[in-house]
Amino acid sequence: MTYQNLLLKIKDGILFITINRESKLNALNKATLGELHFAVTDSFHDDSVAGIIITGAGEKAFVAGADISEFSDFNEDEGRNLAREGQTKVFDVIQNSEKPVIAAINGFALGGGLELALACHIRIAADNAKLGLPEVSLGLIPGYGGTQRLTQLVGRGKALEMILTADMISSEEAYRIGLVNYSVPVAELLPKAEELLQKILKRSPLAIGAAIRAVNAGLTDGVNGFDQEIQEFSSCFGTLDYQEGILAFKEKRKPDFRKK
Ligand code: COA
Repeated sequence: MTYQNLLLKIKDGILFITINRESKLNALNKATLGELHFAVTDSFHDDSVAGIIITGAGEKAFVAGADISEFSDFNEDEGRNLAREGQTKVFDVIQNSEKPVIAAINGFALGGGLELALACHIRIAADNAKLGLPEVSLGLIPGYGGTQRLTQLVGRGKALEMILTADMISSEEAYRIGLVNYSVPVAELLPKAEELLQKILKRSPLAIGAAIRAVNAGLTDGVNGFDQEIQEFSSCFGTLDYQEGILAFKEKRKPDFRKK
């Protein structure tokens, strides 16, 4: 596949996905969402990729939202399809990725841009980042999972304040309320994301996938997260990586996980 709206680079097991529509502040149009779906799902079958970092091109924006020009004349059915397709093909796929995904937020993360970051497993923001869900100022509400994922992360009170006021918050404030894991100087954004992901990639990839599934289970309607944890925990005992982890511990050496 040739990408028009994304830049992809694989380095040391990490797939860097850069959303590359700088002149539109990397707004997510249909084509970009399609490419994101393809890039992420393709990486699931690519053994050279163990984790993903998503960022935006340029210094101004991570992603300034869904592309407003594409839905300005939509009716209710089209609106429903837009939200449903985006959620199932991109945002849920990222959340459920068994390969860890980190958002490196370099500037505006608004609307669908913040929702993209929320779907990732971990968020790191540059100190110039501005984060918000401004949809109500357009007569809309967040439609790519923002009402749910923001609430899960920061609690109902803060989430409702952000959603109802449509205000942007600073990187520092986002860190303070637990919306991002780290707030770092711009120059340290990608190095920090890479360092954190490389640390995760030293752990058992099968256990990483199991942990993500167990955490996500607790957020899924009708699924008992505790039961899922028991199932995932027990499955780990059947892996060679578990045997290697225990052996390495006993032999006081670093484990050599093979994802088996
Ligand atoms: N959809 C489509 N185009 C967008 C966009 C979006 N979500 N966000 C920015 N752009 C475009 C602008 O239309 C402009 O294009 P143009 O040069 O062809 O006119 C370009 O990106 C640059 O944006 P501009 O508004 O000129 O930059 P700014 O520095 O003055 O303002 C923002 C930056 C982020 C405050 C402003 O662009 C904005 O409010 N964007 C919309 C955010 C939003 O509501 N997102 C949620 C959508 S549901």
